[in-house]
Amino acid sequence: MKKLKTTIKDIKELKIPNVHEERGKLAVIEKEILPFPKINRVYYLYDIPSDAFRGGHSHIKQESFLIALSGSFRVVLYDGFEKITILLNKPNKGLYIPKGIWREIEDFSSGAVCLVLASTFYEEKDYIRDYEEFKLFKST
Ligand code: TYD
Repeated sequence: MKKLKTTIKDIKELKIPNVHEERGKLAVIEKEILPFPKINRVYYLYDIPSDAFRGGHSHIKQESFLIALSGSFRVVLYDGFEKITILLNKPNKGLYIPKGIWREIEDFSSGAVCLVLASTFYEEKDYIRDYEEFKLFKST
C-alpha cells in the first residue's frame, strides 16, 4: 500500500482576491492562487440540513479547494496524527486540502453553500471512505 505522506502543515487557508466597489464585491480565483495546476471539476453542496454530516473521506490523488460561498460550516481535518478544525464563513477565504487528508464537514448554517474546486474528475476509486483503512494509509 502506497503511503500518503501529506500532513496538516500542507493545508492552506488562502485569501481570495476581490474587487471591492460600492456596488458590491467581486471575488476572483485565477490559476495562480490555486496550489494545483488545473481545475477539472466544480461542485457545490446546498440545501444542507444543519445537522448534516458531509465528507467523511480522504482522497488518494484529488486536491480540493473549498469556499463557503454563503453561510458557514466547519471542516475537521485529520492527517492520521493531528486533527484541526477550520471555520469557513467568508466567501473570500479558500481552504486548500491536499490529497491524503481525512475531512468531515459539519455545523452548517442556514443557507450555507460549499463550493468545491477539484483537481480531478469524479472517480469513486480515488476515495478512501473507511477511517481504519485511512489510518493504515497514513501509518509509518
Ligand atoms: P459524497 O462524496 O459522499 O459527498 P460528501 O463528501 O460531500 O459528503 O458524494 C455524495 C454522492 O454524490 C455519492 O453518491 C457520490 C456522488 N458524487 C458524484 O456523483 N459526483 C461528484 O463529483 C461527487 C463529489 C459526488
